[in-house]
Amino acid sequence: MIGACGAVGSTVALGIASLHKRLIATTGLVTELPPFQDVELVDPGSIVVGGHEVRTNTFCDTLAELHTRSDLFRPSVIHECASHLDRMQANIKAGTLCGSDATNEKLADRSGLTVERCPAEAVERLTADIVDFRRNHQLDRVVVVNVASSEPCPQEQAAHAQFAKLQEALAKPASTVLPPSSIYALAAIEARCPYVNFTPSFGVNPPAIQERAQQLGVPFMGNDGKTGETLLKSVIAPMFAMRNLSVLSWIGHNILGNRDGAALQDPQIRASKLRAKNKAISQVVNDSTTTHVSIEYAPSLDDRKVAWDFIHFEGFLGTKMSLQFTWQGCDSALAAPLIIDLVRLAAVYDQSGRGGAMRHLSCFFKDPIGVEDPNLFAQWEMLVNHVQSDVRAPAVEPA
Ligand SMILES: NC(=O)c1ccc[n+]([C@@H]2O[C@H](COP(=O)([O-])OP(=O)(O)OC[C@H]3O[C@@H](n4cnc5c(N)ncnc54)[C@H](O)[C@@H]3O)[C@@H](O)[C@H]2O)c1
Repeated sequence: MIGACGAVGSTVALGIASLHKRLIATTGLVTELPPFQDVELVDPGSIVVGGHEVRTNTFCDTLAELHTRSDLFRPSVIHECASHLDRMQANIKAGTLCGSDATNEKLADRSGLTVERCPAEAVERLTADIVDFRRNHQLDRVVVVNVASSEPCPQEQAAHAQFAKLQEALAKPASTVLPPSSIYALAAIEARCPYVNFTPSFGVNPPAIQERAQQLGVPFMGNDGKTGETLLKSVIAPMFAMRNLSVLSWIGHNILGNRDGAALQDPQIRASKLRAKNKAISQVVNDSTTTHVSIEYAPSLDDRKVAWDFIHFEGFLGTKMSLQFTWQGCDSALAAPLIIDLVRLAAVYDQSGRGGAMRHLSCFFKDPIGVEDPNLFAQWEMLVNHVQSDVRAPAVEPA
């Protein structure tokens, strides 16, 4: 995991350790539902965790913080998993700040952080780290998941269009052609590992990086995990469409208090998140619909996010009505099982030897690569169809 010791990464680590020790149920894991029963997915408790970080905080530090501040997780579970978490911690390497922004640079207090001469050097080092991790643990497969702090959306550059041009730009000293999320994406691809971007950051978006993934037959998917307000939007919006009700206004306010919320105070970082959030209702809004999405930082909420949406709509004979919902979700507990699902599904796809965008995973993302339909039910059907027709072992007929 990139950004391994943040709130989401540490919750994934605790989840895997707890599943390994059979301390918890699999509630929240999509891949434990009946459509996935005959698919040969990796046992979640057997996943080996490694990654990159730029802060000194360990998994245990972050989990203690989440427990104290947000009253998350039973202390007995954290305690029982402590030695497993310490073993995982040994696999966490210093990340890169190459191409980073001022907000994220302020977080970085880890010793041993090197500033590479150029992005190509960073890609090379990170690739070597991933390859070493695979070799040292004798792993069949490594899936790289980005759960690092959100980044501002970078300016489009000519070098993003073609891999040959990107390679030239990456070799230029102090080049800022790619933000860290894309440098990690390229490193994963060079190490022949599937890459999943759970954040709204640039990641594998540049066509040049997707071209390289296609060349090497590496699968990828993103962007931005769909866990809360946007998940609900992608469920409710199709209902308005199916009933031919006209949405006049859709106003959403999100309030959160964790480190992600603090990073989202930066207007440029917030802009990349808002863009992903707006896509969920594209099928029911038009030029005359009033829409607004806000993200407010309220530290007292910590990891317990609140979203309040107001939807004003019109029905038969011009009758105006409204729907309001309040979502109170715990961000890390919603995100972590989805990451375990994504790792299991990306690994099984990689095993089939195919590369490119894993569009069948669109239901996990706010802004899925290569999928325009934001409807959760249509996206779910894509996943189930994929699993039943492509992945599932053929049923053996009774003799
Ligand atoms: N929790 C959710 O429900 C949810 C949903 C969708 C997306 N996300 C995204 O997941 C990401 C993680 O969220 P979080 O709450 O864990 O945030 P967090 O701030 O707790 O964790 C992010 C971690 O990334 C690390 N980091 C920053 N820059 C890095 C770099 N260059 N290299 C390596 N590590 C780096 C930070 O040190 C930090 O530990 C955010 O981008 C967030 O927007 C979360």
